[in-house]
Amino acid sequence: MSSISLRKIKKSFGALTILHAVDMEIDKGEFVVILGPSGCGKSTLLNVIAGLDECDEGQIVIEGKDVSGLEPSGRGLAMVFQSYALFPAMTVRRNLSFGMEIAGTPKATVTEKVAWVAKLLQIEALLDRKPGQLSGGQRQRVAIGRALVRSSSICLFDEPLSNLDAKLRAETRVELKQLHETLGSTMIYVTHDQIEAMTMADRVAVMHKGKVEQFAHPQSIYEKPASLFVAGFVGSPAMNFLEGRMDDAGRFVTADVPIDIDGYAFEGARPSGEAVLGLRCEDIVVVEPGTPRSVPAKLAFTELLGADALGWFDCLGKRFSVRLGVEAARSMHKEVGLRFDMAKASMFCAVSERRL
Ligand SMILES: Nc1ncnc2c1ncn2[C@@H]1O[C@H](COP(=O)(O)OP(=O)(O)OP(=O)(O)O)[C@@H](O)[C@H]1O
Ligand SMILES: [Mg+2]
Repeated sequence: MSSISLRKIKKSFGALTILHAVDMEIDKGEFVVILGPSGCGKSTLLNVIAGLDECDEGQIVIEGKDVSGLEPSGRGLAMVFQSYALFPAMTVRRNLSFGMEIAGTPKATVTEKVAWVAKLLQIEALLDRKPGQLSGGQRQRVAIGRALVRSSSICLFDEPLSNLDAKLRAETRVELKQLHETLGSTMIYVTHDQIEAMTMADRVAVMHKGKVEQFAHPQSIYEKPASLFVAGFVGSPAMNFLEGRMDDAGRFVTADVPIDIDGYAFEGARPSGEAVLGLRCEDIVVVEPGTPRSVPAKLAFTELLGADALGWFDCLGKRFSVRLGVEAARSMHKEVGLRFDMAKASMFCAVSERRL
């Protein structure tokens, strides 16, 4: 049985449709990340699940029960908001313990849980302060703590790490992931940070303009993006794209140059018409100029990244990023050839923007 089923969820604000028939089945104990750019509807979707916003159409089923018409308190969820919403008049300790006290948790357990979460989130020294006396990142940690102590079987997080510095963010990411493994609760985690999505998720739902474009394991999202949007949004540096068309002989032609695409596994029959070829920087090999199955390219500049390097090449009227070894980047000639690993490439229909 799914932990959470979202069925054809629609939501508009006035004339503006924010969620277009969102369907999702989330398994029990799964860590699902909703990933997408600012304004795509992530918080709206989370608020609809939590019951803070009502959807116009559709159904939300939590652990077998239709909760669509229920108040937030009747849905049994813990939520961390994008704006932390702490009680300003209460100390951090009270903010953490309040929910448990209301639920009638024994005093000793409350004390124990507050101590546990304060240590976990490194806020022990702040327990007697009020939210107004904390930094943004500290407030955010208290908000996370407040959700964690509730031991709910479903936790919703809306960009919970956005105000932490890079180091604390990386640490808390690992802590949350470990915590998920310990608690076994179902977690839905909203972020626009693809690193968080890739590292934490069992499955990632990539959202774009109120639609879920792909809902899959992070590695599938990276290797076989279902749409041009997903391909461009996930991965750093961004995927290299070449616009062209499939000719009558079944070849891909860009800037009047036919590209050998043997080795590419099309989802269906070999298509025709306008298409886009996508290549990740690690799926392009630098070869001697004139090597068969390569296209001529000119090195523009290299960037050393520490463990490896990126070469930026002008090729077929575009600028391509190619991952290089540090030594290779140092001794790279200006005139080279680039060979594309078609087994790892992605191709998209230029009209529907879906994977071919
Ligand atoms: N109460 C509201 N009334 C009208 N429009 C709203 C309301 N709440 C959100 N919106 C609009 O709905 C769209 C989606 O908002 P939402 O907050 O879900 O985006 P998001 O994906 O969470 O973005 P971010 O990453 O910036 O938090 C935005 O265009 C926003 O302006
Ligand atoms: Mg948001």
